[in-house]
Amino acid sequence: MRNKIVAGNWKMNNDANKTEALLEKLKKHNFNNDVKVMVSPSFTNLQKSVINLSDSKIEVIAQNMNESEKGAYTGEVSPSMIKSIGVSRVIIGHSERRAYYNENDQVLKKKINNALKNQIEIIFCFGEQISDRRSRKEFEIVKNQLSNTLLKIKESDWSNIILAYEPIWAIGTGENATAEQAQEMHFFVRNWLKSNFGTKISEMVPILYGGSVKPDNASEIFSQPDVDGGLIGGASLIIDDFIEIINSF
Ligand code: PGA
Repeated sequence: MRNKIVAGNWKMNNDANKTEALLEKLKKHNFNNDVKVMVSPSFTNLQKSVINLSDSKIEVIAQNMNESEKGAYTGEVSPSMIKSIGVSRVIIGHSERRAYYNENDQVLKKKINNALKNQIEIIFCFGEQISDRRSRKEFEIVKNQLSNTLLKIKESDWSNIILAYEPIWAIGTGENATAEQAQEMHFFVRNWLKSNFGTKISEMVPILYGGSVKPDNASEIFSQPDVDGGLIGGASLIIDDFIEIINSF
């Protein structure tokens, strides 16, 4: 039985006060024990959020991490910095990092390896552009994104990886993939896992969907057999919507 997961991707939103206010509301809620809830505040709010949520089951995760261990990389954050404040999971490969910060498959592969080597678990994002889908290349694109970054992963590392299918055309656009489109791609990804790493791993790895998940579409998307939860952007900033999405399982 795979974990059900709902992770809020807060991106570059919420100052210290707003972050605290959102967490206060969130932690008052009694969520279904079957669902693992995660939030990813900005780096400036990360440590305070860990302290704030220390008596809660909600996990605080980081939005990014550098591909190197340490050194002269002004403005960057290393795995040991993240770990030293009690965070042990990071989002890697988000389409905004790929698009605005030139994070290509080579860089992402280094980030993945750096995280795993430092016992940091990852949520790895991938997904196609609208032009890829229009030219029916979505499966090829996704397969390449996965193969270029994850093909050499050790079997034992898969228990530390969550995958997140995030079609770029659905992120922040209000246009979500239909439940059928999500299931079709998640099934494809599960088969990619099966053919490269075997049935056990393919059945173990959670695959999240991300892209305009809202209270009114979450339960249909989450009810698909290969969708194990969601990575939620915009709607996770509105705490009542986020709670409704978490309760959609
Ligand atoms: P969205 O973002 O829910 O606002 O579409 C999802 C994401 O970027 O992870």
